[in-house]
Amino acid sequence: MSAPTLTYPFAGRTVNRMGYGAMQLAGPGVFGPPKDRPAALAVLREAVASGVNHIDTSDFYGPHVTNQIIREALHPYPDDLLIVTKVGAVRGDDGAWLAAQEPGDLRRAVHDNLRNLGLDALDVVNLRVMGNIHEPAEGSIARQVEALARLQQEGLVRHVGLSNVTSAQVAEAQRITQIVCVQNQYNLVQRADDALVDELAGQGIAFVPFFPLGGFTPIQSSGLSALAARVQAAPMQLALAWLLHRSPNLLLIPGTSSIAHLRENIQAAQWALSDAVLAELNAIAAE
Ligand SMILES: NC(=O)c1ccc[n+]([C@@H]2O[C@H](COP(=O)([O-])OP(=O)(O)OC[C@H]3O[C@@H](n4cnc5c(N)ncnc54)[C@H](OP(=O)(O)O)[C@@H]3O)[C@@H](O)[C@H]2O)c1
Repeated sequence: MSAPTLTYPFAGRTVNRMGYGAMQLAGPGVFGPPKDRPAALAVLREAVASGVNHIDTSDFYGPHVTNQIIREALHPYPDDLLIVTKVGAVRGDDGAWLAAQEPGDLRRAVHDNLRNLGLDALDVVNLRVMGNIHEPAEGSIARQVEALARLQQEGLVRHVGLSNVTSAQVAEAQRITQIVCVQNQYNLVQRADDALVDELAGQGIAFVPFFPLGGFTPIQSSGLSALAARVQAAPMQLALAWLLHRSPNLLLIPGTSSIAHLRENIQAAQWALSDAVLAELNAIAAE
């Protein structure tokens, strides 16, 4: 039986590895207002009351809507709450996700986040590289990272992270400023970044998987469902517990608009998985 460590040093703090991703709080397609705003406020308040002290967001969720909901639910923010945001895209009038990677775009996005979150400085800003949308593509990101480093020197950004990047891009960015996290797609069945997870663990850098449950269509696997039934867990709890066991630098930000799912996800941190169950989960990953 192995129980994972439940905290990790991140951006000058120690955060609980079970965090919360706020993207699901906007309307359908992460565009416009949610159907039930009071429910969105309640999910955030319950997350923080349950010990979540790492929330992932962006001003392009909604756009603006998600940050405004976070501000309404939680401002003035608890001292130990780390809010991580990302820049590098804007939304079209039809909800399209458009790259916005010029230095002026990044500066505007930082100010949008500051205004809508009600902050004087942002704890962590991830540069979201557009690559192939949900997987990275090689290419220099120096110009964008330099723009964020300038905002850091001005005191508007405390720490810089990267999203949707390759190992080479992390190394390039590290020659410009310290990188505190990488946020790439990774979950039980999407393991292209196995080597990067280990590489960053060796450097003490957080890897924050996006789509930890598989994203808009959560992971569907008959093997996972059967195993979950056998150990009396929900399938998504096992998917999260597997990530917690996979490497100590994995910080989880499952997204949900449902209090019931939030509770289920937070409980996953309590699961200590036996070697046999871990082996079965690893086999699902390899299918
Ligand atoms: N850097 C990037 O490019 C990027 C991209 C995508 C996401 N993100 C960040 O990563 C966070 C997580 O990603 P995500 O929210 O897209 O995907 P996710 O966490 O993998 O999955 C969210 C989906 O799973 C459902 N869900 C959550 N808990 C569940 C449970 N216990 N049982 C069954 N279904 C459950 C949610 O529906 P319900 O609302 O009904 O629970 C939602 O449909 C986002 O919130 C965002 O902050 C970053």
